[in-house]
Amino acid sequence: MALRTLAAKKTLTTARQGLALIQSRSLQTFSLPDLSYDYGALEPAISGEIMQLHHQKHHQTYVTNYDKALEQLDGAMSKGDAPTVVKLQSAIKFNGGGHINHSIFWKNLAPVYQGGGEPPKGNLGWRIDEDFGSLETLVQKMNAEGAALQGSGWVWLGVDKESKKLVIETTANQDPLMTKGPNLVPLLGIDVWEHAYYLQYKNVRPDYLKNVWKVMHWKYAGEVYDKECPQL
Ligand SMILES: [Fe+2]
Repeated sequence: MALRTLAAKKTLTTARQGLALIQSRSLQTFSLPDLSYDYGALEPAISGEIMQLHHQKHHQTYVTNYDKALEQLDGAMSKGDAPTVVKLQSAIKFNGGGHINHSIFWKNLAPVYQGGGEPPKGNLGWRIDEDFGSLETLVQKMNAEGAALQGSGWVWLGVDKESKKLVIETTANQDPLMTKGPNLVPLLGIDVWEHAYYLQYKNVRPDYLKNVWKVMHWKYAGEVYDKECPQL
């Protein structure tokens, strides 16, 4: 009888420990990052209404759905539900990509009084001249690629951290730049989804692309470049 009680107690203790382990293993979630400027601070290049909707509604939705998909993935993995694990991959890529891309985009922009629109300086400025001939040529190329992109997506200036070369790429939907090459690191990303410009520019994407450079925060891009390509 005594032995039985001990065994029962031991089982109960083990079960409690298991429960504690499950309870202490909390799932990492993501949240909407704050902007370092007011919604209206990028006017007239980008209206405050667009910025508020874009940040509070669109980016928030990517974050919410990313967290939801990760929670479902966690549940599916703990049950060994392989079909559901595979099924969730597209939602994770789309919403996770949306979160990653927009988090970069907000840092790529700055009000004029915080340096928005000031041309790149230092090592990145030199590298642009070397790889593209001039900043104007780079801007023209990115605008042309952004305007030509069919449907929704992004146009990027990135650096290949192996070859140290600058590259211009486009990605569809919310694919991050890394989907075009594992060595590519984004310096600047321009959102060419209609939600980024339609309320102000209607269907004239080239006008949005022309004006977004007036609030481009090259200082951020230069810092990323220096981190990825430290000068010897
Ligand atoms: Fe967007």
